[in-house]
Amino acid sequence: MAEEKSYKYVIIGGGVAGGYAAREFSNQGLKPGELAIISKEPVPPFERPELTKTYIDLEVNPTLANIYVCAGTGEAKQYPNWYKEKGIDLIVSTEIVKADLASKTLVSDDGTIYKYQTLLIATGSTNIRLSEIGVQLQEADVKNIFYLREIEDSDELSFAMELYVQRGKAVVIGGGFLGLEISSALRANNHEVTMVFPEPWLIHRFFTAEIASFYEGYCANKGIKIIKGTVATGFSTNSDGEVTEVKLEDGRTLEANIVVAGVGARPVTSLFKGQVEEEKGGIKTDGFFKTSVPDVYALGDVATFPMKMYGGMRRVEHADNARKSAAQAVKAIKAAEEGKKIPDYDYLPYFYSRFFDLSWVFYGDNVGESVLFGDNDPKSPKPKFGTYWVKDGKVVGVFLEGGTQEEHKAIAKVARAQPSVESLDVLSEEGLSFATNN
Ligand code: FDA
Repeated sequence: MAEEKSYKYVIIGGGVAGGYAAREFSNQGLKPGELAIISKEPVPPFERPELTKTYIDLEVNPTLANIYVCAGTGEAKQYPNWYKEKGIDLIVSTEIVKADLASKTLVSDDGTIYKYQTLLIATGSTNIRLSEIGVQLQEADVKNIFYLREIEDSDELSFAMELYVQRGKAVVIGGGFLGLEISSALRANNHEVTMVFPEPWLIHRFFTAEIASFYEGYCANKGIKIIKGTVATGFSTNSDGEVTEVKLEDGRTLEANIVVAGVGARPVTSLFKGQVEEEKGGIKTDGFFKTSVPDVYALGDVATFPMKMYGGMRRVEHADNARKSAAQAVKAIKAAEEGKKIPDYDYLPYFYSRFFDLSWVFYGDNVGESVLFGDNDPKSPKPKFGTYWVKDGKVVGVFLEGGTQEEHKAIAKVARAQPSVESLDVLSEEGLSFATNN
């Protein structure tokens, strides 16, 4: 007879959103035994963005404990004991393999049945594999091809980085956020690094050509080689099955003993297909992260929610939204229990990244015309520059490299307030002071 457990609240997924939802439940008041977090991962919720930052830095040699949530917002870290003290059942290394939303029943891979009154879906994203985008390989047969999402992935890559440190030749496939951070981490750890991607510039979906030109120049100065306009099509291996070469579509081959793929991600929604409304690849929610099914909420990467500031529905695959959507959903659940209502989610998009000694942040929307300000010479000893995006005569988005905390607050304020501007030239001339004096 299968074991059956029953909870008032169940969170599926022990990632960023799961961890921050637990924090908000605790803030709002939680009785022991009311909440379970069920997570496929073997470890408590941690700040996933750190996998490509401090956690992969062999010099720093960090431990997992350094990056437990809520390290990312400067609040107390939730060590395993924290969950015990709060009476939260943190059930790790356990995958939910079946979800029946009509009968409020979940089944895990060890056959346990979990009943819930309220469900929070925080299953995040999964990495797109190279074989899914047309690269010819039997992934299981090629050693030293890495993806980064879980602690284990990062540990395995770190091990390979240590192993090949004397003759490390790494190829990073993908020119997005992850590709850039991973390339920097590999280079900082003395590996020869080549990035390969088909787009005309780095982080093409988000960076302007001018922003990308700075980071490409900076990477080149650090010794990273960038090959654009082509894709990897296959690999050569030695008799041990270890990768030795990456074959490119344009006929070139690149020597490699480490390959890291950062070619995109997709939300993990398959358990709920046909049971809940979806939109834009994610689970459709309202401004309280409530789905189309009563008592079921979706947070973080999987949620497609109404973007109050800009209209329309969006899915946001970034840590800040994972944290804030989790807090919003829990506040809404608790308020509803008391017959109250909270304001709709009013999210100002915030993305960030750090690598080498660089650090950028972005607030708002990257639509309309853009204008660069500041010093974006990759050879500058202390480069500091930014970009404003202007739509319908209003500033709607701001990017800043090398800013201070105060400056970040100022640009966030501008992106939220959307002040009118006479012309792009004003922004170009005033630069950062347009935001700091506003
Ligand atoms: P998250 O992926 O954190 O957690 C999902 C959890 O659900 C995992 O524990 C998973 O195992 C579990 N799960 C899934 N299916 C399950 C099932 N059936 N049963 C049980 N458990 C299940 N963002 C940013 O803003 N700045 C940055 O610099 C970075 N950098 C970065 C680096 C790397 C390497 C990655 C992979 C991602 C980033 N991100 C980022 C993105 C950011 O980490 C991401 O948006 C958040 O982690 C999303 O939080 P979620 O909780 O939604 O998913």
